Amino acid sequence: MKSLFGTLADGTTVHSWSLANGGTRMKVLSYGGIVQSLEVPDRRGRYANISLGFDNIEDYVAGSPYFGALIGRYGNRIDKGRFTLDGDAHQVDVNDGVNSLHGGAKGFDQHVWDVEPFAKGSDVGLHLHHTSVDGEMGYPGTLKVKVTYTLTKHGDWRIDYTATTDKATVVNLTSHVYWNLAGEGSGTIENQELKIAASRYTPVDAGLIPTGEPAPVADTPFDFSRTKRIGEDLREAHQQLLYAKGFDHNWVLDKGISPRPEWIATLKDPSSGRTLRMATTEPGLQFYSGNFLDGTLVGSGGNVYRQGDALCLETQHFPDSPNKPSFPSTVLRPGQTYRSTTVHSFTC
Ligand code: GLA
Repeated sequence: MKSLFGTLADGTTVHSWSLANGGTRMKVLSYGGIVQSLEVPDRRGRYANISLGFDNIEDYVAGSPYFGALIGRYGNRIDKGRFTLDGDAHQVDVNDGVNSLHGGAKGFDQHVWDVEPFAKGSDVGLHLHHTSVDGEMGYPGTLKVKVTYTLTKHGDWRIDYTATTDKATVVNLTSHVYWNLAGEGSGTIENQELKIAASRYTPVDAGLIPTGEPAPVADTPFDFSRTKRIGEDLREAHQQLLYAKGFDHNWVLDKGISPRPEWIATLKDPSSGRTLRMATTEPGLQFYSGNFLDGTLVGSGGNVYRQGDALCLETQHFPDSPNKPSFPSTVLRPGQTYRSTTVHSFTC
C-alpha cells in the first residue's frame, strides 16, 4: 500500500509503502529507501516498532543520523576521502572530520529511489532503484543500484543488493536501521543481549579508521562470541571504546564472504522476548551502540532519543578497504555485478 509521506523543498513527493507478511509489518520511504518503522510482536503478541525514525519528511531532511536508510556508495569510512584505483587518485566527499562517511554529505540515504512493489509466491516486497552518476560525491563511474526488500511468509526481512558500473569504482552498500527490540523510544539497549560470530575485529585510530591489523576479541570488551549483555563491558576504560564513545567497530566475521547468507549475529531483548537473527553474505559487521544519539532528536513515537537508545548492525565490507590491500576488495569493474544479501529473522 502506497501513501504520500511528504514533499521535498524542490517539490518532489516522497511516498511511504506499507508491507506486511508472516507477522512482520514495515513502512519504507522512497527517500533513502528508509525503513521508517518495523513492527513485530513480543512473546505476548503485543506489537512494537523496533526501529528508530521520524514521523515526517522534514526531520529526515533536516539531519537524520541515517535512521533506517540505505547507505552508499561506500558504507562506513574512507581515510581522508582518498584512494587510488588503477593508478588514478580519487578524492571523495569529506563529511566526518577529515574522513568520508557513508558515501559523503549526500549519500544514497538522501536520494529519492524509484520504488516498485512486487508479490511473488508467498513473498511480498519492493524493488528500489537508484542511479548514481559518474563523479557524484567524487566516486568514479555511473553506478546502477538495485535493492530488493522482501518480507517472507515467515516474517523475515531480506535485503538483496546488486550494482553495476561503467568504470572501475568502489562499492560497499548497507542498511542503517537503529534497532531497539523493546520498542523505539523505550530507553537504553544496554540490557539487550548480543552474540556475534566473530573472533576478530578491526581496531581503529582516533578518527575511527581501521589500523589495518585485525585483533582477537578474546579477553576484550569486543568479545561477543558468547551471548553478552551490551552494557556489560561498555564502560570499560579500553582505548578502543574511548575513541568511539562505545562500540562503533567492524567485526571480522569468522565465516568470511559466503555465496549464501550465513548466520552471523543474534540480538535478544530478554524483557519482551523479541529476538533478531541476522545472516549475510558479507565478511564484516559494524556494531554501533548509538553513541552519538544525544537527546536532540524527537523520534516517531514522540520521545527523545538519547545515547544508547538503539544500536546498528551494519553488514558490510571493512571500513577503508580502498586503502587497505589486505582487506577483502570493494572494487567493482565494468562487466561485474556487485551482490550482497542480508536476512533479518524475528522471533519471540
Ligand atoms: C555509523 C558510523 C558511526 C556513526 C553512525 C551515524 O554507524 O560507524 O560512527 O557515524 O553511522 O551517526
